[in-house]
Amino acid sequence: MRLFNTKILGTGSYLPERIVTNKDLSERIDTSHDWIVERTGIHQRRVADLSKGENPSGMAKEASLKAIEAANLTPNDIDLILVSATMPDQSMPNTASVLQEKLGITNLCPTLDVNAACSGWIYLVPMADAMIKTGLYKHILIVGSEMLSSFNNWDDRNTCILFGDACGAAVLGRASENEDSRIYSSILTCDSTKKDHLTLMAGGANKRITHEVLDKNEQWMTMNGQQIFKAAVTTMAAHAERVAREAELTLDQIDWFIPHQANLRIIEAVGTRFNIPASKVIVNVDRFANTSSASVPVALDEAIRDGRIKRGDNLLMAAFGAGLTAGAICLKY
Ligand code: COA
Repeated sequence: MRLFNTKILGTGSYLPERIVTNKDLSERIDTSHDWIVERTGIHQRRVADLSKGENPSGMAKEASLKAIEAANLTPNDIDLILVSATMPDQSMPNTASVLQEKLGITNLCPTLDVNAACSGWIYLVPMADAMIKTGLYKHILIVGSEMLSSFNNWDDRNTCILFGDACGAAVLGRASENEDSRIYSSILTCDSTKKDHLTLMAGGANKRITHEVLDKNEQWMTMNGQQIFKAAVTTMAAHAERVAREAELTLDQIDWFIPHQANLRIIEAVGTRFNIPASKVIVNVDRFANTSSASVPVALDEAIRDGRIKRGDNLLMAAFGAGLTAGAICLKY
């Protein structure tokens, strides 16, 4: 069977207009700009406005149109839509179906939502790669669209400072024979022994949202920050080392490292363990905070559009999230 190499044909992103600064939060809860910057590196985050169409599918439409345009394609060239949304538009229909309609796609392409929390978009890359490699699909739209503000308890200083809303998208397709773009290596894992460190237990089949749930404030996410911090650093650094080794690339040959943007201290600790210079690490957590599965594709798109990432560069991307899911990809852009 003939195998194809997978190439990132185009990327796009969308950030909601509304900016919420640390100062804004400090007027509501017992925190300060300095505390948040010192512990997380975050200065501000974006928050979606439903009245402006900024829900997961709405943000995904804007990011996807940019990615499709960058790929020199039209929406009907997309033959599979995969969307990572930790909190989808609604349970049914899935967000990917709504996105198909919003993009004006009439070719009846299949649509699928996945939930691997902050690792969701990274999870989609090897899945799309396998389907492009084998020729099953030609142009796969992979989207991480996250509206964490919908389950972020704005009165809980332990969590609310960390998150923001955004969407990142990419179109993956076949590299032509004279191109060397490819996905070298990938790893996806889940350590369910740590699944209770980051949860949102109400709102699913086990626990419907009732007056009792609301009275107990159980409709929000809860987090054991220190446990997640440790797991994030060790797992992302180990995964990054492994995919670089499997790609047979030395650290010098890696042009850019794009880690999940959860906390600047996590990014720096991973960089130190992985031994990659800070000048090669893409960071935007200061401006956008943790946008879950949107964080890596947003950072990727930003660095492509501002000219830092160029065709032929070797990229290493890594993420972790609730589950605890994690993954890393090494590729030639
Ligand atoms: N402002 C001011 N003080 C705060 C605060 C805030 N926003 N949030 C917590 N504190 C307080 C705590 O109550 C605690 O006070 P105490 O010592 O009186 O009990 C103190 O600050 C230290 O809290 P601690 O939890 O030890 O801080 P930390 O250095 O671990 O930083 C996180 C907290 C959440 C920033 C950090 O653990 C983290 O980023 N973890 C990873 C979270 C993550 O990435 N989640 C998403 C995964 S995809």
